[in-house]
Amino acid sequence: MKTESQTVKAFTFKDRECAKAKPGQFLMLWIPGVDEIPLSILDASEDGTVSIAVRKVGEATQALNAKRVGEVVGVRGPFGNSFTLRKGRILMVGGGTGTVPLYFLIKRLAHQAEKSVLVLGAKTKDELLFMDEVKKTMEGERGQFVATTEDGSYGIRGLCTEPLKELLVREKFDVVYACGPERMIRKIFDLTEEYGIDFEASLERLMKCAVGLCGSCVIGKYRVCKDGPIFDSKQLKEVKEEFGVSKRDFDGKRTPI
Ligand SMILES: Cc1cc2nc3c(=O)[nH]c(=O)nc-3n(C[C@H](O)[C@H](O)[C@H](O)COP(=O)(O)OP(=O)(O)OC[C@H]3O[C@@H](n4cnc5c(N)ncnc54)[C@H](O)[C@@H]3O)c2cc1C
Ligand code: FES
Repeated sequence: MKTESQTVKAFTFKDRECAKAKPGQFLMLWIPGVDEIPLSILDASEDGTVSIAVRKVGEATQALNAKRVGEVVGVRGPFGNSFTLRKGRILMVGGGTGTVPLYFLIKRLAHQAEKSVLVLGAKTKDELLFMDEVKKTMEGERGQFVATTEDGSYGIRGLCTEPLKELLVREKFDVVYACGPERMIRKIFDLTEEYGIDFEASLERLMKCAVGLCGSCVIGKYRVCKDGPIFDSKQLKEVKEEFGVSKRDFDGKRTPI
């Protein structure tokens, strides 16, 4: 267990199935007596070790953050598809807990990519997650790390979409990967459309079954749990009306994002 920020904690446990996960996949974590929630996989290794990172937002995540070493939780997974692993010039953009699946992707890609740039954004320095590990992985002539904070307490002041625009003007990239608040992902998608670059993003929707049965996670003709959570440019174009605009709530009603 490791405290990453005032609201985010990382947990590590053994699970033989989830240890086979690929970057972008998620698991369902059951907190007995409380709820079962979807969480991205932060890291997975052959020795059966799996890591997740959780932000305290409501009842389930608060109960999870209060857990101590040795307490019991339930795990199902891994679920969903994964990012495609490209070897060319890659640009990754993460905001908030959106850093979680990107961290896993970076670990698998940074050393094999021709060039890899990571732009990480947060409200304030304390919320820039896994900074030390990420900086270490990105260091070197083929890697570049850019941080932005909305309050200017670290890196460039403002939103992570600002340096992104400059990078896209200055350099050529084969693919952009993104995860974070959906409105941010939508802005990045619009930029990649403008510059004609392949794009892959991880989306979040309400999840109950996680295996494509209940329909609570739909976006357009897709179920995020089974067809996603990673969607490419072509798929995102098909769901433009909902993507970054609205999602279904617990009653199935559309609510603004
Ligand atoms: C594929 C996927 C990956 C995710 N990865 C992470 C991660 O790595 N780290 C992290 O901190 N959070 C992650 N989340 C979000 C996390 O699931 C929610 O924060 C959590 O479910 C909130 O539960 P709660 O009881 O604490 O809060 P509540 O008060 O119940 O809900 C707060 C908000 O969380 C969202 N939420 C609640 N229940 C669900 C649910 N069953 N499915 C999806 N969203 C829900 C809703 O937007 C809700 O408004 C992920 C969500 C998805 C869909
Ligand atoms: S969570 Fe049930 S269909 Fe996706």
